[in-house]
Amino acid sequence: MVSTSTQIGNFYFDNCLMNAAGVRCMTIEDLEAIRHSKAGAFVTKTATLEERAGNPSPRMASTPLGTINSMGLPNQGFPYYLDYLLSLQKNDPNQSNILSVVGMSQMETHVILQTIQNSDYQGLVELNLSCPNVPGKPQIAYDFDTTESLLKEIFTYYKKPLGVKLPPYFDIVHFDQMATILNKFPLTFINSVNSIGNGLVINDETVVIKPKNGFGGIGGDYIKPTALANVHAFYQRLKPSIQIIGTGGVKSGRDAFEHILCGASMVQIGSAFGYEDVAIFKRIQEELQAIMKDKVYENLNDFRGKLHYLD
Ligand code: DHB
Repeated sequence: MVSTSTQIGNFYFDNCLMNAAGVRCMTIEDLEAIRHSKAGAFVTKTATLEERAGNPSPRMASTPLGTINSMGLPNQGFPYYLDYLLSLQKNDPNQSNILSVVGMSQMETHVILQTIQNSDYQGLVELNLSCPNVPGKPQIAYDFDTTESLLKEIFTYYKKPLGVKLPPYFDIVHFDQMATILNKFPLTFINSVNSIGNGLVINDETVVIKPKNGFGGIGGDYIKPTALANVHAFYQRLKPSIQIIGTGGVKSGRDAFEHILCGASMVQIGSAFGYEDVAIFKRIQEELQAIMKDKVYENLNDFRGKLHYLD
């Protein structure tokens, strides 16, 4: 029997496919729809300490090759998501999802993580170090010193399973430097990649989204090669206890297969989930199972990270 089940840390998932943070995951209704689908888990919209309306609309647009967005972290505030996850945990302690968070300042990040540490929440948390869309706030994970000092401070008090969401990197030296930093910490996972930040899409003579004069994070087909490179680069460099969630450009079973081949233990779907809604998880699971069956792979361990190189 072909299985797409997987594990992140001590958590088991029937299916390795799930949503990527930001797409159809801002409200409990959105999250319930994913929970009742074939997705193995859901991740919440990245939550800040307090609720935010985000940037002015239009703030997302699509093209035949993907999406551009500058949402600006609209969310219901982190207690909304924590309370919901705690209620799910009460009903089924074995089920886990991912709570995505980041503060609007380092102080806020610490308040959020300390609150989670002191709560009954036992599930996975993803700290988003790669939001490209808040005017005046650079992506944390492009500042290596800040990333290292932030993680150092966090792990003095945070003892629950934690992962980080990373932006794409584009230079081998940056893969080396970031992996060296990440390997210093007891991270459970990384999630690679967030959107390619600050792209620009033009229609006739005009930008297609309003915030930041049209600059926004790019997702979809545009980013798959970058995503695969990042997943594989970190797979080659991270200690085995840090697992990888692969995100970027997944719209078919073949795309998910490639992410796993590069080293992903779980695969998230962003832009394509936006187009296709929850039915996508069943479709891509079936496509992935068909590829695995064809290659006589029974589970993800049979091919995870086993990318072939040319001699
Ligand atoms: C937003 C976009 C991101 O890529 C991210 O990681 C977090 C937030 C946003 O614009 O809302």
